[in-house]
Amino acid sequence: MSFSGILKEKKILIGVCGGIALYKVCELIRGLKKEEAEVKVVLTTGAEKFINPLLFSSLSENKTYTNEDFFKSEGSILHIELSKYPDLILIIPATASFISKLAVGSASELLLAILLSTKAPVYIFPSMNASMWEHPATKENVEKLRKYGYLIYEPAEGTLACGEFGKGRLPEVEEILEVIKAHFTEKNLLGKRVLITGGPTREYIDEVRFITNASSGKTAFFLAKEAYYRGAEVHLIWGLDAFPYVLPKLNYFSNIPFPNIYFVKTTREMFETAKSLFPQCEISIFAGAPCDFRPKAPFKGKLKKKEELTIELELTEDIAKTLNSYKSEWQFTIGFALEEKEKLLNYGKAKKKEKFFDILIANPLSSAGKDQSDYIIFTPKEVLEFENLPKAQLAKIIFDLIGS
Ligand SMILES: Cc1cc2nc3c(=O)[nH]c(=O)nc-3n(C[C@H](O)[C@H](O)[C@H](O)COP(=O)(O)O)c2cc1C
Repeated sequence: MSFSGILKEKKILIGVCGGIALYKVCELIRGLKKEEAEVKVVLTTGAEKFINPLLFSSLSENKTYTNEDFFKSEGSILHIELSKYPDLILIIPATASFISKLAVGSASELLLAILLSTKAPVYIFPSMNASMWEHPATKENVEKLRKYGYLIYEPAEGTLACGEFGKGRLPEVEEILEVIKAHFTEKNLLGKRVLITGGPTREYIDEVRFITNASSGKTAFFLAKEAYYRGAEVHLIWGLDAFPYVLPKLNYFSNIPFPNIYFVKTTREMFETAKSLFPQCEISIFAGAPCDFRPKAPFKGKLKKKEELTIELELTEDIAKTLNSYKSEWQFTIGFALEEKEKLLNYGKAKKKEKFFDILIANPLSSAGKDQSDYIIFTPKEVLEFENLPKAQLAKIIFDLIGS
């Protein structure tokens, strides 16, 4: 089964200014083309001094426009034509100079004239030396642009091209691509609170050794990302030590809060955190892999090596079953079942009923840690089967099912 990405056939116009970070636009165009987006590039006078348009034309497989084209319209008026072309305009990198010209409504060059005439949303990614960014004139211009409705993504802090440390870096290409994907995701979860558990838990044998499992948290991450991009307030309870994923900051463009990530270690901690958040959440997805057993009496300190060791285990909290048992009518809950392939159908159906889930997703043992897997989804109305489904796609299907 093949799935097309959210950027397929989206028309994106990139306005490139004369900033040192423009080299990142090459990778960005490649990323957009890989996602089957259509890309056109317009260079400012400053950008023309840094780079030959041929590079962007080759990468975008489209003509790259320069100010020479501005007054050479043949038949149609170029800046009006280009202002009607895109679904989204990105200004990357936006220089202090360009921001100042846009703030006074100048149309003295092609890109400025496009911006003054377009109805498309415009995302501006400034990048400059930290002192230039902090300058009161730049600050005032940025505020003015925000008032005019331009969406400005704050530069990141770090070592800048000039060697100084401070705020002024263009975000990494991966993050910019995520901003664009989030833009094109329908905001159908605005105002909803979504609780997601993800990753394994640990149950301590002594103070340094523990029992755990192979869960990677990938499914929970893709679910959290999808809910966030759809506009939800996300609460992710996370059983791993690190969160090695890129999520863009959407509060620059909307009021969508950045996902709250709660790091937990044991099943008891995952349970207690989930218990405190569950009563406020319209949607709860139990994608975590808490250990089912824990040592009954964990050893204080470090156990010494010996020939044989018997550890008595006790059952841990059943997070989903306990919370589901007091869910209200307005709450929707989703669970996962990891089982041997041949038992998926029967076990999945039984677990959905026993633990009071609205939707249950059964997947085989081989799923842990992989980017894709086979799934059987038990919805309130039907049973759906998927083979080799990417986890990112599973997340979209789940949120579409909740809305249907
Ligand atoms: C080597 C070099 C690097 C520059 N880097 C930046 C930059 O990162 N950000 C910025 O705002 N201006 C930067 N400038 C200044 C702009 O290039 C200059 O203001 C130019 O007029 C901007 O043109 P534009 O707004 O038409 O793109 C740089 C200039 C030079 C010579």
